[in-house]
Amino acid sequence: MSQEPREEWSGRLGFILAAVGSAVGLGNMWRFSYLTSENGGGAFVLLYLLLTLLLGLPVMLAELSLGRGSGRGPVSALRNFGGRRWSSLGALFVLSGFVILSYYSVIAGWTLRYVATTVAGGFPADGGEFFTRVSEGNEAAAYHVVFMIITMAVVMGGIRRGIERTALILMPVLFALIGGLAIYAFTLDGAGEGYRFYLQTDFSQIMDPDVIRQAAGQAFFSLSLGMGAIMTYGSYLSGRHHLPQESLVIGGADFMVAFVAGLAVFPMIFALGIQSDVSGSSVGTLFIALPTAFQQMGTAGTVVQVVFFIALFVAALTSAISMLEVVVASAMDSLKFSRKRATLIAGTAITLCGILPAKKQSVLEITDMIVGDVLLVAGGLALAIFVGWHMRDPIDHASEGAADVRWFPVWRWLLRVPIPLILLFVLYNSIKSVYAAIIG
Ligand code: TRP
Repeated sequence: MSQEPREEWSGRLGFILAAVGSAVGLGNMWRFSYLTSENGGGAFVLLYLLLTLLLGLPVMLAELSLGRGSGRGPVSALRNFGGRRWSSLGALFVLSGFVILSYYSVIAGWTLRYVATTVAGGFPADGGEFFTRVSEGNEAAAYHVVFMIITMAVVMGGIRRGIERTALILMPVLFALIGGLAIYAFTLDGAGEGYRFYLQTDFSQIMDPDVIRQAAGQAFFSLSLGMGAIMTYGSYLSGRHHLPQESLVIGGADFMVAFVAGLAVFPMIFALGIQSDVSGSSVGTLFIALPTAFQQMGTAGTVVQVVFFIALFVAALTSAISMLEVVVASAMDSLKFSRKRATLIAGTAITLCGILPAKKQSVLEITDMIVGDVLLVAGGLALAIFVGWHMRDPIDHASEGAADVRWFPVWRWLLRVPIPLILLFVLYNSIKSVYAAIIG
C-alpha cells in the first residue's frame, strides 16, 4: 500500500474550528450542566474555569507540540519522541478513542432519533417513556449505526475536504443555535431563578475532593484531552502556528460554549418548573425532563425541541469525527493503510463494539465512567510526565512559531510538578468512586 503524502489544514480558521468542534460536544451541554447542578452552581463553574486554565491548557499545548513536532498520530508521535516504550502510551490513546466513540455514538444516535421523531410530529407527551423505548435495544443500535456512517463519510473525505469543511459549515450553525436557545431562555417567565441558581457562588462545596475531581475530569473530557485527539489534529499543523495562542482560543471557545449552554439550560429548567425532575442521572435532564416540558408548550415547544436536539447532534458529530481520526491517523501511520481503508476498517470495528452499549444502557454508563473519569485522566497524567520529565526538548517544539518564549519554562514546570500531583489526586479519587459505583 503506498502512503499518501501528509495532509495539512488549509489555514488557521479551519484548524481552530475543527479543534473547537472536537472540544465542543455532548460534554458541554450534557455533562457540564448536570455536574454544575449537582455541585452547587456558580462556584463549580469558577472551579472548572480555573482547572481549565491551570490543567487543561498546558496539557493541550503538550499535545499540540507532540503532534506538530512529529507530524504523526499518537502511536508514531510517542515513538518518535520517546522510543518504543512510550509508543504503548500512544496505543492506549488509540484504544481510548476507540472505546469512547463506540458509546458516544450511541448517545449521538439518541439525539438523531429525537430530531427525527419530533420533526415527524410523533413525539409523545411522556419523555421518560420515549427515552426508555429508544435508548436501548435494536432501535438505539440502528441510530448508532446511522451516526457512525455519517462520521465515517466525513473522515473519509480527509482533512480539508472532509473534516475542515464540515467544521467550517457546522460550527457557526452550532454557535447560532446555542446562542438562540440562550436568548429564547431569557424571555421565559421565571428565568431569573435559573440564572440565580447557575450563577450564585456558594464556595462551601468546592473544597470537597469529589467536587474537585469532577471539575478536573470535566475539564479534560470537555477539551478532548488525554487520548491524542488534539495531538492528532496538531499533526496536520505547520510550524507557523503560535501554539499557546491556539490553545487559548480553543479552550476559551470551549468554555464559552459550555457557559452559554448553561445560560440556556438553567433558565429553561426553572421556568418550566422541572428542577425536581432533574435527577442525578446523567441523561435525565436532557433526554427526559426537557422534552417532557417542551411537549407541554405546544408548537413553540416543538420548535425549541428540534433546535435543541439538532444542536446536540451537531456538537456530537464534530467531536466524533476527531475520535475516529485518532484511530484512522494511527492506522495510516503505523499500518500504512490508505485513508479510505483505515476509515472503513476502524469505523466498522467501532460500530460493532457500539452495539453492546446500544443494547444495554448499564454497559454504556459503566464505560462512560471508566473512560471519562479514569482512562482520560490516566492518559493525561502519563503525557504530562512524558513531556515534563522525559522528552528532551519540549520547549523547542512548543515555542516554534511563538515569539515570546518567557513563559515556556513555567509551562514545563507546571507539567512536571503541579499537574501530575493534581491528576494523581483526581485519578485516585476517581478510581475509588468508580470502584464503589460498580461494586457497591
Ligand atoms: N470533548 C468532547 C465533549 O465535550 C468529548 C471528548 C472527550 C472527546 N474526549 C474526546 C471528543 C476526544 C473528541 C476526542 O463532548
